[in-house]
Amino acid sequence: MPAPRRNVELKATDPDPERSLKVVQGLGADDRGVLHQRDTYFRVPSGRLKLREEEPGGASLVQYDRVDAAEARESRYRLVPISDPLETRLALEASLGTLAVVEKDRHLLLWNGVRIHLDAVVGLGSFIELEGVAQNGSNLLAELERVTQLTEALEIPPERILRTSYSDQVLGFDALIDAARNVMERAHAPYSRFHVGAALRAEDGSIHAGANVENAAYPQGQCAEASAIGALVAAGRKRVTEAAVIAGGDAVCVPCGGCRQRLREFMDLDGIVHLCNASGAHEEVTLRSLLPRSFGPEFLPE
Ligand code: THU
Repeated sequence: MPAPRRNVELKATDPDPERSLKVVQGLGADDRGVLHQRDTYFRVPSGRLKLREEEPGGASLVQYDRVDAAEARESRYRLVPISDPLETRLALEASLGTLAVVEKDRHLLLWNGVRIHLDAVVGLGSFIELEGVAQNGSNLLAELERVTQLTEALEIPPERILRTSYSDQVLGFDALIDAARNVMERAHAPYSRFHVGAALRAEDGSIHAGANVENAAYPQGQCAEASAIGALVAAGRKRVTEAAVIAGGDAVCVPCGGCRQRLREFMDLDGIVHLCNASGAHEEVTLRSLLPRSFGPEFLPE
C-alpha cells in the first residue's frame, strides 16, 4: 500500500497580504499565479475528506489528517484525481452529507520545496499557509526548518497561528450542534426512548460525536457523552475545547452528573457546553457552572 504523502504545515491570519507577497517575492519565490478553489467538506468519522474543484486546474479528492502539535505541524494526506467532480460530489453528498463549502482565491508561490499560499477566503478573510512538502522517508526536520525560516522572514507571531481548518472556522458551534443532532438520530434507546446526541470539538478543530446506547440489562447502558469521548479518544485526540448535548423534547438537555465528571477529565472548566433541545434552542454554559468544586486529575499524586 502506498504511504500517505506528508508535509509540515503552518496556517496564520494575514493582516497584510500585499506585504507578505513582497517578502516572499524578495526571497525569490516562484510565482505560480492565482487559483480559484472550491472545497466541499464531507461528514466523515475521522480526519477530513474534501472535494477540491480548482480553476485553472482540475478536481481532486483530498483525505487528510493533521497530527496535533504546537505551531508548525505534520499533515498526512492522499490526493485522488477526479475526472467527474459533479457526480463525485453528488455521490458523496448523498452518502456522507456535506459539512461545509469553503471558497477562496489562492495566490500560490513556491520556495525551496515549500508551497506558500496567500489565501483570500470568502467570509473569513486573508490567511497565509506554508506547506513544506516532504520527500519520501524524510524525518521532516529539513521541511520544518524551511517553514520556520519563512515564518521568521514573514514575521508571523505565535498569536496569529491557527490550529483549525477553514471549514471549522466557517462552521462555528452550529457544526457541533448539527453533529450532535445527526448522531442523536442513531441512538439505541428502546427502553427510555430518550435519544441523546453529544458532539465534542477537539483541540485541532475536529468534531467527534456519539449517541446513547442502552442495553436490556439496564445498567450496561452508556450515555451519549461517553460514546463521544470514546470516538474522540479512538481518533487520537486528547482534549475537548467545546461540547454540545442534545435530546428530543422542549427542554434543553443537560449532561447527567456522571457525564459532567467524564467531560471534566478532558475539558478545561472554562470550556463551553451547549445545551440544546430538539428544535434548536440552546444555552451556553461553562463546565465549571455544571460541576462546581470538581475533582480532577490534578488532585492525584504525581
Ligand atoms: N443520557 C445521556 O445519554 N446523557 C446524559 O447526560 C443524560 C442521560 C441517556 C442515558 C439513557 O440512555 C437515557 O438518556 C435515559 O436516561
